[in-house]
Amino acid sequence: MTSIHRKIVYAIFAGIFLISFSLMLFYGKETFYVEKEAASKQVYDYHIALITEEVGNEYWSVIEKGAMKEAVRQNVYLEYVGPRQTDNEEKLETMDRMISAKVDGIIIQGLPGERFKELIRKAVDRDIEVITVDADVPESERKIYVGTDNYKAGMLAGKALIERTEGKQYVGIVTGLFDSVNLQQRVEGFKDAIRDDDRIALIDVKESAITEIGAAQATYSLLKENPQINALFGTSALDGIGMVQGVQEAGGNQRPFIISFDTLPQTISLIEQGSIAATISQYPEEMGRKAVEQMLVLMQRKPYEPIQHTGTGIVTKEEIINGEIIQLPQE
Ligand code: BGC
Repeated sequence: MTSIHRKIVYAIFAGIFLISFSLMLFYGKETFYVEKEAASKQVYDYHIALITEEVGNEYWSVIEKGAMKEAVRQNVYLEYVGPRQTDNEEKLETMDRMISAKVDGIIIQGLPGERFKELIRKAVDRDIEVITVDADVPESERKIYVGTDNYKAGMLAGKALIERTEGKQYVGIVTGLFDSVNLQQRVEGFKDAIRDDDRIALIDVKESAITEIGAAQATYSLLKENPQINALFGTSALDGIGMVQGVQEAGGNQRPFIISFDTLPQTISLIEQGSIAATISQYPEEMGRKAVEQMLVLMQRKPYEPIQHTGTGIVTKEEIINGEIIQLPQE
């Protein structure tokens, strides 16, 4: 090749390289610029914090699901925060942090003690709306409660025990946490339902720390310390599952009559298998959905109902086919 030819070939290659390089820069910039612009364009109307009992708790994930769907629908930025394992102090600290972050609204489970009420006051003073969900503290300045009528739900469990058993019943209760407002109400409702029935005697109440393993241990001790126990009532979502394990671990040929709480898939399959007799249903997805919906009602200064119960019912084998509840009975 002569030197002129070589120069022409080099010039062609250089030209192709320059054209491709410019195209790459142009289209690359276009692509990234558009993406960046789209990300920064997402502007929400409100910022709401949903403070959970436990991040990762299956029951609370259903509340989150309902809340998130509604938040997306209403152009709300929903922040789901809380402790990894239930801890009231941590929930209160999270609430304080959310107030400092100037969110528009806080959805939180009602907590016991003065500090909770003080924090609600602090929020209200800063124009932050508070809705309680799942458990209520009516004597606080929260505007709305969305959730189960917990006393009534406990009564329902007591009545179910009376209606569905024969002969003397010695009852052990496994409760999630002694200081949970809603679980205390469930135990009270249960006690009031069985109070006048001589056939039913409450023997003892133990705590599960709202974990499956805790419920298994509580059940094991209940049965070992009180061999006469032939009925069990679990007040929170994972208690039923743990209670079945505790009964197995305790051995013996006793098969206690078990009433649990909530309709998590594992509970439903234990009912189908006959290990749990009945469960009290709650509507956590609806709680989440309604709490966000009602938060917007408050922010738009529309009229509102302070108490919004989401219903309860009893689910037994008759209402389940292939792991699915065929019809959710509501009271
Ligand atoms: C209760 C919640 C609790 C959950 C624990 C539910 O039955 O309503 O308050 O956090 O159980 O798994």
